[in-house]
Amino acid sequence: MAKAAQANIGVVGLAVMGSNLARNLASRDGNTVAIFNRSYEKTATLLAEHPEAHFVPATSYEEFAAALSKPRTALIMVQAGAGTDAVIDALTAVFEPGDIIVDGGNALFTDTIRREKAVREIGINFVGAGISGGEEGALLGPSIMPGGSAEAWKTLGPILRSIAAVAEGEPCVTHVGTDGAGHFVKMIHNGIEYADMQLIAEAYDLIRHGTGATPAEIADIFTEWNAGELESYLIEITAEVLRHVDTKTGKPLVDVILDQAGSKGTGVWTVQTALDLGIPVSGIAEAVFARALSSKPAQRAAASALPGPSAPLTVTDSAAFVEDVRQALYASKIIAYSQGFDAIVAGAEQYNWDIKKGEIAKIWRGGCIIRARFLNRITDAYAENPGLVALVTAPFFTDVVTTTQEAWRRVVALAAQSGIPTPSFSSSLAYYDGLRAERLPAALVQGQRDFFGAHTYKRIDMEGIFHTLWSGDRTEIETEGSSH
Ligand code: 6PG
Repeated sequence: MAKAAQANIGVVGLAVMGSNLARNLASRDGNTVAIFNRSYEKTATLLAEHPEAHFVPATSYEEFAAALSKPRTALIMVQAGAGTDAVIDALTAVFEPGDIIVDGGNALFTDTIRREKAVREIGINFVGAGISGGEEGALLGPSIMPGGSAEAWKTLGPILRSIAAVAEGEPCVTHVGTDGAGHFVKMIHNGIEYADMQLIAEAYDLIRHGTGATPAEIADIFTEWNAGELESYLIEITAEVLRHVDTKTGKPLVDVILDQAGSKGTGVWTVQTALDLGIPVSGIAEAVFARALSSKPAQRAAASALPGPSAPLTVTDSAAFVEDVRQALYASKIIAYSQGFDAIVAGAEQYNWDIKKGEIAKIWRGGCIIRARFLNRITDAYAENPGLVALVTAPFFTDVVTTTQEAWRRVVALAAQSGIPTPSFSSSLAYYDGLRAERLPAALVQGQRDFFGAHTYKRIDMEGIFHTLWSGDRTEIETEGSSH
């Protein structure tokens, strides 16, 4: 039975992420952690496996509430969706005004906005917190992206700082913004994660086809890349995945894994949200679509006999090709982050959040899945110019694309010629060229829209909204309507 008011924080939901966060919390000085799970079995297991941890087990929500000192602070770690609502209902029934409920799952940010509003109405604080870093991060130090009120942050800040990863002496957690801001930023993090993973996968595929290197040899290439400007968690683990040999067959494990990529939805949300906000996150979108395409076995089987290029990819200078791919990966990766930050800016504007982009880059430097050396450069870029309109135009990134763009073009062209799908490499390059184009064929699109729908257009040489009488005397008239 729980003893009264011993714990300063509680965790509800003791699957792997919840258990690991509870252990992480309990391992920090001064923390005592109330733990509760719907079925007591998981609570008992956690207690039995970690008898030394400062846990206070609870068998009911009433006991859980009684175990917590005020303001009560509870971290919910259950599967996002209806389960989260059920736990919130149960907690609000036993909590009091001023208490704090934190949802650490991968919730859709609009659900978090809705929940925050409903819970606030009864005087309880609700914080949607994105938590990244997987199982190991949860245990040893994740990157944490909390939203919610400034009042809740006062209590929560020191607790979250105590368990977060540390990068260059700073904890990887900041108060991102109000209500759903934290889950919004976590969603974009995951979108960038999808793009980064797809780009790395395309680099691997190109090198394998182009040079005939084995997965283990490509692992060595990635390990080498990880010592340079591409240093990141995803490059590091990719090398490990490629090096892994299947114990059943003795083959590289990557060759026996079914090539159909799954997803839990956060990448899709990023793209759906970006579409609503009108932000081209093409690198992220292509990564989501690449997973979707991979998971269409019937279509792939039906199309497998369709013609491809007459000559396969042949590379004469393997080392030069690998270096081209590395540069193409770096450039494309910058575009993915640039697009992700554009979505954050647009989301902040739409939902009235004061999100500090440099701070976001900072808390992504450690603990999270997209942690990477070059995030420091993003922090610097926003520190130097908080009003930066496109990350890729910051001096450091402009220098990188100046150095890498020729290689990037060679790789994309060669991939197209050789029939190797590189949707994220190619779309990132197309985005880059679209962004820097002096004049886009959007002018023609406006003409087409005006032709069939009288949608009007603006001119480059005079103010006003125009419509052309396309048949008859074909004259331009100025209209009252607004161009759209
Ligand atoms: C993290 C990860 C984590 C998880 C996602 C994405 O930041 O720790 O993003 O949240 O891996 O669920 O998974 P899917 O690839 O299954 O969508």
